Amino acid sequence: MVEDIVIRDHVFEPYISREELDVAINNVAERINTEYKASKEVPIFLITLSGATFFAVRLLEKLSFTPKIGFVKCSSYASGMKSLGKIKMALEPTIEISGKNIIILEDIVDTGLTWKYLHDYLLKSGANSVRIASMLFKEEAYKETAIIDWYALKVEDKFLVGMGLDYGELGRNLPTIYKLKTT
Ligand code: IMP
Ligand code: MG
Repeated sequence: MVEDIVIRDHVFEPYISREELDVAINNVAERINTEYKASKEVPIFLITLSGATFFAVRLLEKLSFTPKIGFVKCSSYASGMKSLGKIKMALEPTIEISGKNIIILEDIVDTGLTWKYLHDYLLKSGANSVRIASMLFKEEAYKETAIIDWYALKVEDKFLVGMGLDYGELGRNLPTIYKLKTT
C-alpha cells in the first residue's frame, strides 16, 4: 500500500505508479527508436536540469542508438509551487548544438513557457531543429501552440512531486509521482 507523504508543510498523495510510468516511458522510447531507425540523422539529447534527469535515465537506456547527450538548465519556478513567469538560462547547453537536430528532455510541460523559451533560444543559437520529449504534460495549463512531440503521460493541473519533480528541491528522488492533496 503506497501512502501519503509530507514534504515541508504539505501532504501529497500517490498519483502515478512506477509500473504505469515505466510502460509510458518505454512507449516513448519505442516511438523515438522507430522514428530514427530508418533515418541517417542521429539527434542529440539535451537533458534539462535538474528535474528531467530521472526521466532521462529511464528513457535513454531504452534507445537502440547511442546519441550525444548534454545538459541545459532554465529556471521558472522559485522554491514554491508558483511559476515566476520569467525564464532564466542558468546553464548554457553543455555540448555543441550548432547545426544539430535536438531533442529536449523535460520532466513536465506545464504552461509551456520553458519549452517555448528553450525552443526559440536553441534555434537562435544555430540548432537545425528542436523537438521535445516530456515525461508529463499538464495539457489544461498549456498556453502555447507548439506541439509536444512526445510525452509519456498527460496529468491533471495539480502540483506534483517525484521522479525529478520537486517542491523546494525536495521530493525529486521519489520513484513514483505524488500529487498535492487538496481537502
Ligand atoms: P512551464 O514553463 O510552465 O511549462 O513549467 C515547466 C517547469 O516548471 C518544469 O520543468 C518544472 O521544473 C516546473 N513544474 C511545472 N509543474 C510542476 C509541478 O507540478 N511540480 C514541480 N515542478 C513543476
Ligand atoms: Mg524543471
